[in-house]
Amino acid sequence: MNGEKGYNKKDIGSIHLIIFSYLCTFKCKGTNMTNEQLKQEILRLKKENNAVILGHYYQRHEIQELSDYVGDSLSLAQEAQRTEADIIVFCGVHFMAETAKILNPGRKVLLPDMEASCSLAESCKGEDFAAFKVQHPDHMVISYINCSAEIKALSDLICTSGNAEKLVRSLPEEQKIIFAPDKNLGGYINQVTSRQMLLWNGVCTVHDAMQAEAILKIKAEHPDAPVIAHPECNAALLQVADFVGSTKAMLNYIKASEAKKFIVATETGILYEMKKENPGKEFITLRDDKSCACDDCAYMKLNTLEKLYRCLRDEQPEILMSAEMIEAAKRPIVRMLDMSRQLGIIK
Ligand code: 13P
Ligand code: SF4
Repeated sequence: MNGEKGYNKKDIGSIHLIIFSYLCTFKCKGTNMTNEQLKQEILRLKKENNAVILGHYYQRHEIQELSDYVGDSLSLAQEAQRTEADIIVFCGVHFMAETAKILNPGRKVLLPDMEASCSLAESCKGEDFAAFKVQHPDHMVISYINCSAEIKALSDLICTSGNAEKLVRSLPEEQKIIFAPDKNLGGYINQVTSRQMLLWNGVCTVHDAMQAEAILKIKAEHPDAPVIAHPECNAALLQVADFVGSTKAMLNYIKASEAKKFIVATETGILYEMKKENPGKEFITLRDDKSCACDDCAYMKLNTLEKLYRCLRDEQPEILMSAEMIEAAKRPIVRMLDMSRQLGIIK
């Protein structure tokens, strides 16, 4: 830990984002509707406009409750590809809504709050990445889906945390690879596959702030509880985890496990689904232990019921992209989906 107890520098970054999120929520109030009325209106507008709501596991619980489909990045991308709805309301972050637009350009794609970005996407700007790529012309580029369309367009293959390991393993061993933008996920894949992919220096500020020491302290009090962690966590934390996997993989692990309690090292939104699927099981987080309040993604939490309602009512904010950008960014995403089907990761 950077500090003895309490918050370290990264926590302070998270706290700023939480305050920002709170202020934003406050500013957007004004319809004078109760949550119940908002929910009814959202359902009504959704039907009237032939819209589908796709929600990520890290969304606020009330948004997950209203979503037609809740999932991890990989399954949401698939869902976005196959939907017949006229409007896709993406309750997640910007790169996810952008991916939905790329996969289904004929549909209107809405994101309740355009500010819902991601620290990984922010860490990797097109111009810098293009320059990095030029320095390594013999490398193939694999980008984690948590990046902008511009970075996707510069990539040969996209991956998610749900398929990264298998996709990398399927490539010839001598293939040189640049992996961007998450150095933690890339480092983890390097470790389990014994590869030496060249890593871009980006992190998810939420997962990277979680500390192995804090997890070990909780583990000492609950020795029977397996530690489950998202691969965006830092290497030291992943070393002490009993299971490492994407949001969906963590849910599958919990369901199949005989254990009665789990120490969870990922964003808190997922607790909604974990508790829903496993009513008899207990979940302990860093927050419960008061080790840190770093496990909320302020970007994900920018979407609120109020903004979801306004978004359906006004049919904006809308994701708009040039046809050229859609075409260029689509290629590596479709390649990911095709390879994932061939490898039996998805249907
Ligand atoms: P997955 O849902 O693919 O595990 O991704 C987690 C994440 O951090 C998305 O922002
Ligand atoms: Fe990005 Fe991390 Fe938030 Fe996911 S949890 S959207 S990776 S900042």
